[in-house]
Amino acid sequence: MENLEEKKQRVRELLKERDAILLAHNYQRDEIQEIADFTGDSLGLSIEAARSDAKVIVFCGVHFMAESAAILSPDKTVLLPRIEAGCPMADMITGEDLKRFREEHPDYTVVTYVNSTALVKAYSDVCCTSANAVSVVRYLDGKKIYMVPDRNLARYVASRTGREIESWNGYCPTHDRLTLEEVMEKKEEYPDALVVVHPECRPEVVDAADHVCSTSGMYKFCRESSAKRFIIGTEMGILYRLRKENPDKEFILASESLICPNMKLTTLDDVIEALEENKYVITVPEEVRERARKALDAMLAIPRDA
Ligand code: 13P
Ligand code: SF4
Repeated sequence: MENLEEKKQRVRELLKERDAILLAHNYQRDEIQEIADFTGDSLGLSIEAARSDAKVIVFCGVHFMAESAAILSPDKTVLLPRIEAGCPMADMITGEDLKRFREEHPDYTVVTYVNSTALVKAYSDVCCTSANAVSVVRYLDGKKIYMVPDRNLARYVASRTGREIESWNGYCPTHDRLTLEEVMEKKEEYPDALVVVHPECRPEVVDAADHVCSTSGMYKFCRESSAKRFIIGTEMGILYRLRKENPDKEFILASESLICPNMKLTTLDDVIEALEENKYVITVPEEVRERARKALDAMLAIPRDA
């Protein structure tokens, strides 16, 4: 199949045939976002996966996201079209690492970013996403907090909550690459623009920003803001919807290097193959799943503005 429209049509037919929904992260290729039943940030996608009553969930994102869907919806078939689409940050800490930390530091409450493996979640007290990390930590008033795996998110949450937070030394290679110099250069070029960045960015970049939020938070902020120009510090896939939804506004990527290769792997051909051949089915061993689910449920039970 050569034609893009034909491919999209084939995806739609297959989704119907298989009683499937297609979930896509905000960093996915434009054509994947266009065909998705739901696009969103990690929090929105996990809620959608749990809520849907489709038999099959095709997850266009990276491995930990499909795993979260499998943890929350064990009775559904969860497909990740490209099995090698992983998250390097999630792989910076293993279940064994966190198990050891817990044995050595039983007094800490472990808050785990959803960008983590199922086994790491299983050793955690509560999960968080970039959209609710501040609320989760505020809710855990009086507890000693240890955050994994993202040092940058931990530092951002500490600054927003005034809490002392220790963390694992992980980071997102895509966001951590963005330098303050790059942001300042863009700011010089576009002095009227607001700087909007993801909390996975380096502390000095976060401190220089006008607004810090999750990917879906960026859609809301840019839509509601009266500003006309924005310098965006997150993966370039976000630009597709920002530009589509705000034709009168201008979005400038803070750096050309803001590309996550893993998020760009999945193509329409892969989605077709995934649905035709039922691959790759993501499952989590039951004992791990139950424990990881508790950490995800604990997160989902915390009010957003806690
Ligand atoms: P959110 O979409 O939850 O903000 O996460 C960003 C991210 O890096 C996911 O891989
Ligand atoms: Fe992981 Fe960063 Fe890519 Fe998100 S953007 S999947 S955190 S490497």
